Amino acid sequence: MPTSAAETAHPAAEPILKVANIETYYGPILAIRGVSFSVPRGEFVTILGANGAGKSTILKTITGLADLQKGTVHFEGKPIHNRDPDVVTRMGISLVPEGREVFPFLSVLDNLKMGAYVRRDTDRIATDIEQVFEYFPSLRKAARRAAMSLSGGEQQMLAIGRALMSNPRMMLLDEPSLGLSPRLVGEIFTILARINAERGVTLLVVEQNASVALKTARIGHVLEMGRIVMSDTTEALMQKEDVKEFYLGLKAGGVRGTRRWKRRKTWR
Ligand SMILES: Nc1ncnc2c1ncn2[C@@H]1O[C@H](COP(=O)(O)OP(=O)(O)O)[C@@H](O)[C@H]1O
Ligand SMILES: [Mg+2]
Repeated sequence: MPTSAAETAHPAAEPILKVANIETYYGPILAIRGVSFSVPRGEFVTILGANGAGKSTILKTITGLADLQKGTVHFEGKPIHNRDPDVVTRMGISLVPEGREVFPFLSVLDNLKMGAYVRRDTDRIATDIEQVFEYFPSLRKAARRAAMSLSGGEQQMLAIGRALMSNPRMMLLDEPSLGLSPRLVGEIFTILARINAERGVTLLVVEQNASVALKTARIGHVLEMGRIVMSDTTEALMQKEDVKEFYLGLKAGGVRGTRRWKRRKTWR
């Protein structure tokens, strides 16, 4: 894998997350084909990929929701591959799953409290709920409503808020933009940038929405067919012709929609 810009800048610092050569199958189907990348502490990293590229599987493998057959995952230097999801959460990683998965019949407030179940410092829970309401004021207004009555955007905010309630050092987000209007996507990524900058939470966001992810994250990887095919700063990725063409849709008359691997050319 190419060395990321952040690794070059701080060669001595141990990454908060190190994924090495992982392979994950669903029955006979190999979904992740030897993926390696590191996330430096405090970074905002994105993995871009089309539907079916393997983005969710990478996050599920890190959090113990899918078992890997090969490779290793280390968080803060400790091996976490094939551990129970519960253990991984307690260690300091929290996942905002694809499709939000809030508890539909529980109120907004109870959903947030559920996110805090792994914590011992229960005296800080009220302060952190207040912080979530500060990030997402519409959740405060809806605090007593059942989660299922919220809009898609509010449910995404609640899923992020709930993940924050475990007081994680790293958050993994699976397509937070899915099904939301551009305005809401913008709002959510602005808050993610604040969570990263103000709380120092390391973020790994997987997205099909390349334009917002490239604008907000600082390091990016491009995933195709279960393999990482490009890694760089998001600034550099945005300048690459292939990224413009296939992920940003900027090239008029291009072969957008044709799978890149079918064209049998190397990435430039
Ligand atoms: N539960 C499953 N059973 C069988 N195959 C699956 C399952 N989940 C995902 N896959 C396959 O694994 C590959 C990667 O899927 P996924 O990680 O969900 O991609 P993404 O999140 O990028 O859309 C796809 O080819 C998908 O069809
Ligand atoms: Mg997915």
